Amino acid sequence: MKHLIAPSILAADFAHLQDDINMVNNSEADWFHVDIMDGLFVPNISFGFPVMAAVKKYAQKPLDVHLMIVDPDRYLERFAEAGANNITVHLEACTHLHRTTSKIKELGCIAGVAINPHTPIAALSDIVEYIDLVCIMSVNPGFGGQKFIESTYRRIAELKALAMERNPQLLIEIDGGVNEHNTAALLHAGANVLVAGNNVFSAADPIAAVSTLKRIDPSQVKI
Ligand code: DX5
Ligand code: ZN
Repeated sequence: MKHLIAPSILAADFAHLQDDINMVNNSEADWFHVDIMDGLFVPNISFGFPVMAAVKKYAQKPLDVHLMIVDPDRYLERFAEAGANNITVHLEACTHLHRTTSKIKELGCIAGVAINPHTPIAALSDIVEYIDLVCIMSVNPGFGGQKFIESTYRRIAELKALAMERNPQLLIEIDGGVNEHNTAALLHAGANVLVAGNNVFSAADPIAAVSTLKRIDPSQVKI
């Protein structure tokens, strides 16, 4: 499949959110990435339901909701009602991950699991066949604009091998520090969804920045 690009609204200008949403609508982006932070699971608070509702009102593409919150089971229905198409929970935040991801599917959403940079990929081995998407964090979650962590490439390859065995359709999403310099190598390693915050919204021409990421081919990788 051609890889998907999901601009992260966290990096948008909240005073002109509608303009930034329209920019994504008019770009080659595939999804809106929506980062929800609770100040507990991560040391930052982003935004909640009112802002998400505003995004939903104008977004013409699916909402990919990344929950960086403890005990996400409490809010799954609310996020589905608020218009989430994909709901991704953190492996580190769920005691009963199979129950949580089953619930996300029952709600009619794509079920994703995000994994922090220090958590072994092997911790996904018994859940990977039951979910639709894994989000490999390539920064420590909590903030946009951080430096990409290099071990991500090896972790993608490890997950790709696991997925080939147990769930070849698995979407492998990379979140944090994605840019035009590392995209080819990420795709080459096996990623097929790329989140991009600052790379898109801080660009002089955000629509062109999305197109650049969308058009990069894994064969362009320089090893
Ligand atoms: C980090 C968030 C990311 C972030 C990505 O905790 O999950 O989605 O917005 O931003 P950039 O692309 O700027 O690293
Ligand atoms: Zn995210």
